[in-house]
Amino acid sequence: MFQINENYLKLQGSYLFSTIAKKVKAYAENNPDKELIRLGIGDVTLPLAPAVIKALHSAVDEMAVRETFRGYAPDLGYEFLRSAIAQNDFARRGAKIGIDEIFISDGAKSDSGNIGEIFGRENRVAICDPVYPVYLDSNVMDGRAGEYLPESGRYSRVIYMPCTEENDFLPRFPEEAPDMIYLCFPNNPTGMTIPKTELQKWVDYALSVGAVIIYDAAYEAYITEEGIAHTIYECEGADRCAIELRSFSKNAGFTGTRLGYTVVPKNLKCGDVSLNALWARRHGTKFNGAAYIIQRAGEAVYSEEGQRETAEQVAYYMRNAACIREGLEEAGYTVYGGVNAPYIWLKTPGKMTSWEFFDYLLENANVVGTPGSGFGPSGEHFFRMTAFGTYENTKAAIERIKKLSI
Ligand code: MLT
Repeated sequence: MFQINENYLKLQGSYLFSTIAKKVKAYAENNPDKELIRLGIGDVTLPLAPAVIKALHSAVDEMAVRETFRGYAPDLGYEFLRSAIAQNDFARRGAKIGIDEIFISDGAKSDSGNIGEIFGRENRVAICDPVYPVYLDSNVMDGRAGEYLPESGRYSRVIYMPCTEENDFLPRFPEEAPDMIYLCFPNNPTGMTIPKTELQKWVDYALSVGAVIIYDAAYEAYITEEGIAHTIYECEGADRCAIELRSFSKNAGFTGTRLGYTVVPKNLKCGDVSLNALWARRHGTKFNGAAYIIQRAGEAVYSEEGQRETAEQVAYYMRNAACIREGLEEAGYTVYGGVNAPYIWLKTPGKMTSWEFFDYLLENANVVGTPGSGFGPSGEHFFRMTAFGTYENTKAAIERIKKLSI
């Protein structure tokens, strides 16, 4: 008789955004007259930029001609895209990343879920609490999390780093030394970020305890303030301890088109084993590349028009962020984030639980957000709203929330 991977039985409930989608669908079916505004999942609403569309069309045309048709992509991704990335995302920021340290993928979600495959089961994992659920769930699936403890809502082998109002939503070094540390800045879900000087301390800490940092920089395009690193490789020594995950979803609207990449520096080693070589082996064996046309679209993001047009999109979403932040503050809410990130993290009113507030908002304002407790126990009594809606809907949602009598 075959056996299953029993670690899957340790997962709690369904994936957060699937649960929300089901709840919202049920509400919409029972209330067909209500116009819902969805500010829950961080999915973009603006169409792809004209420069990206142009590149897509021309790549599609190439695929129709024998001489320019492309089959399988190279293992690491096309060099034209990896060169554009190395130059624009790293060299321009003073970080030296070689094109053979960049692995093109179909997005940061897959990479953040898959990266665990090159690490041992016994590693102790440290995550922020609250956290993007993929880091935790994928470690549960991989058998690294231990047992679920219902009384605390935590797993026995995971090291939780609470990010709360008391510590400005910045994790502190854990008491037990971890082997793998997941960091995401600008942060999902809190919308807060970390000064470069503080990030440098995490790099120094990881080097001193022999840990690897898995750094999710999917939201770097939303950084507006000075003194914040756009890539962890701006920090000294990060090439010896950090893997960085990047996405085209949030900076260029590729949520439905799928494109991302992971940087595994050659200097990152476990003893004399290169993690770059391990990830290359994994990538070559299990992944057949992002589509050529999508990689061409990604390349266009780095063109002059692409950079201008995608910056305009980011500015559009940041106007939404300001609208949410300021509107909620006027309505008396305590609000965080939304300055260097497209997420606003608000405190639920009157000590409502996160899910109580979710239901309340859905039923009374027909606005969908994300319950903070879905991101971890320290997210309880918080609620996340995304700035990725249309401006009109965002404004309307805030007007509706302002009218509520809580
Ligand atoms: C979110 O809402 O947290 C994001 O959309 C999740 C993701 O990017 O996968």
